[in-house]
Amino acid sequence: MRILAVETSCDETAAAVVERAPDSPWAVTIKGVVASQAKLHEKYGGVYPEVASREHSKQILPVLAEALSLNLYDRDRLPMLDLHAIDYLAVTIGPGLIGSLLVGVQTIATLGLASGIPILPINHLAGHIYASFLALPEDRNHPPRFPLMALIVSGGHTLLLSMSHHNQFQLLGQTRDDAAGEAFDKVAKLLDLGYPGGPRISELARKGDRTAYRFPIGLEHEATLDFSFSGLKTAVLREVQGKTLTQSQKADVAASFERAVVEALLLKISRALDTTSVNDFILGGGVAANTYLRERLATLLAHRRPAVNLHVPSPALCTDNAEVIGAAAAFSDLMPMAPRHIQAFARLPLALMNHTTMVS
Ligand code: KG4
Ligand code: ZN
Repeated sequence: MRILAVETSCDETAAAVVERAPDSPWAVTIKGVVASQAKLHEKYGGVYPEVASREHSKQILPVLAEALSLNLYDRDRLPMLDLHAIDYLAVTIGPGLIGSLLVGVQTIATLGLASGIPILPINHLAGHIYASFLALPEDRNHPPRFPLMALIVSGGHTLLLSMSHHNQFQLLGQTRDDAAGEAFDKVAKLLDLGYPGGPRISELARKGDRTAYRFPIGLEHEATLDFSFSGLKTAVLREVQGKTLTQSQKADVAASFERAVVEALLLKISRALDTTSVNDFILGGGVAANTYLRERLATLLAHRRPAVNLHVPSPALCTDNAEVIGAAAAFSDLMPMAPRHIQAFARLPLALMNHTTMVS
């Protein structure tokens, strides 16, 4: 089965061709293309929605053409869109920025209408989970085993969930305010590090002292698996406001902040492991690219659940891309939606990926 997938939920315009053999535990990328807008948004210190959707409109056709190895720039010939090898189209329908999502959704609806190829609507969050079902040469023998626990940490979401089978998501906890990646981005702004903040904080934190500041761990003493990062962000603000920090002080703030985020995530994972039996653990989303989080989680699992395999995608597959949307589609129930019914949703819980609910 071959899938052409498109992702435009935030600030990356992405298209990919992904394949899955019948009953294979893996999906495989044939080609993946990502046009990142990070540079454009840097001056705003975050994603500027109007700019994002305009840029998606500019990029979507060139990105699609490249994923299909078409040359759009040959002046003498109009390329022929050859979709005969594609069995399904897939597109992120939410959650995300509505203007951004609409570009991908409209493009795929049009392609579906013109070609008759069935369209699979995909939840962006499922993409972050299914990144771990894309084959990597080194772990080809060990696909994730159910039941599993997954932590999705991105710029827009922080979710802890368990899965008993493919596409069966049970929410265990989520953020009550800022997402983990959002906290990284906001603290990076306070430290004048630019956007996106995660990779820059993480780089600076390597040179800092993680115990220099005692920042709060959100909902530490509450019997909940939910997260909260807004208090942490405010604590950092109070610490740095009105001060001119040296580079080494900034590194200490970055290191102590990163530690507080990771401690909060590990605390809730650790509590969830007390009551949930799992075979494997999946880490996904942009913040999963964070080395300190990966290492600390690996250590926690090695101590607490040595038999559990930790699956973390390569950094490029942690942040937004279309390969993971194709992978989620490849493991979905393959229930297509008519082009005229397909819509974009700014908010879309994972459990709501039930087509009868959405089509009505
Ligand atoms: O998954 P993603 O690309 O987009 C959303 O779905 O939101 O995640 C982007 C987020 C940004 O907040 C970015 O700062 C964060 O992931 N991020 C990181 C790292 N790389 C990206 N956060 C911490 N450490 C990193 N190395
Ligand atoms: Zn994402």
